[in-house]
Amino acid sequence: MTEAWYDAAAAADIAEDEALGVTLLGVPIALFRLDGEVFALHDQCPHGQALLSEGFVENGCVECPLHQGLVDIRSGAPRSPPIIDPVRAYPTRIVDGRVQIVL
Ligand code: FES
Repeated sequence: MTEAWYDAAAAADIAEDEALGVTLLGVPIALFRLDGEVFALHDQCPHGQALLSEGFVENGCVECPLHQGLVDIRSGAPRSPPIIDPVRAYPTRIVDGRVQIVL
């Protein structure tokens, strides 16, 4: 079965070490750029009602704005309490300056 890639944003709209929140097919997505590469996480902290796209990016992690738990941007793995569950990470690619992801 072929993967379906969906257009999410202009790659130029995602700044290095910052986040961009988008909604794709009703799914909230947080887009990040690290070392020139773009990553996509489900835009919901697994610990509570907070958007990871509103978090602070540092050392490859995003810090939840509510209780400061850390999530690895590349993998979605939890890196610091109170976050203990992983965040879904979506495959990404850039085509003609547009970020595409698989939901
Ligand atoms: S809501 Fe994100 S760490 Fe608590």
